[in-house]
Amino acid sequence: MRFTVAIDGPAAAGKGTIGRAVAERFGFAHLDTGLLYRAVGARMLAGERAEDAARDLRPEDLSDPDALRTPEVAQAASKVAVIPEVRAALLDFQRAFAHRVGGAVLDGRDIGTVICPRAEVKLFVTASAEVRAQRRMDEWKAKGLSADYDEVLADVKARDARDADRAAAPMVAADDALVLDTSNLGIDEAVAAAVAAVEAKRPL
Ligand code: C5P
Repeated sequence: MRFTVAIDGPAAAGKGTIGRAVAERFGFAHLDTGLLYRAVGARMLAGERAEDAARDLRPEDLSDPDALRTPEVAQAASKVAVIPEVRAALLDFQRAFAHRVGGAVLDGRDIGTVICPRAEVKLFVTASAEVRAQRRMDEWKAKGLSADYDEVLADVKARDARDADRAAAPMVAADDALVLDTSNLGIDEAVAAAVAAVEAKRPL
């Protein structure tokens, strides 16, 4: 059975949490596509051309996801993500993952619009920039790290603007996506809405 769930939206809106929960519930494979751009961004920070890094991305580049989940790498990822050659180089891998037998959940920015325009289920998960910045703050705190709210908020807004305003595959909700605003929605309710959307489309 091939069945694709496309989840898009800005950083810290809850895409990853919802994606993992849906994948676990239905036994689908899950791909956080942001990690691919982060891995390319990290190699750019290490001095490589982004286009070359994207063309030659290796499994070991993704082997330490925590090392890629830093603010510096996030900003680098959103810079390399505006380059059409980088996006093109990562396309086939994402499409192959989406079409794997057994079902797949992909989360990112352009999954429902560009990577999998025919996905069976499309969700656009969003929340206000302030709520998302506070979530990032809480995550840092839980890891024992400190952060400045105004800086985190500015980072969130800068990345939103770069992702939404770029010419290549901008972040936008697909016309047929179900929009989930998690500003005032608990994670359990958001997951329940996502699960219901999959149930409604899943072959019996
Ligand atoms: O989702 P995450 O915050 O890890 O993504 C990092 C960056 O990678 C995003 O800000 C965005 O610029 C880019 N990205 C993208 N398309 C995707 C996933 C991520 O452009 N499908």
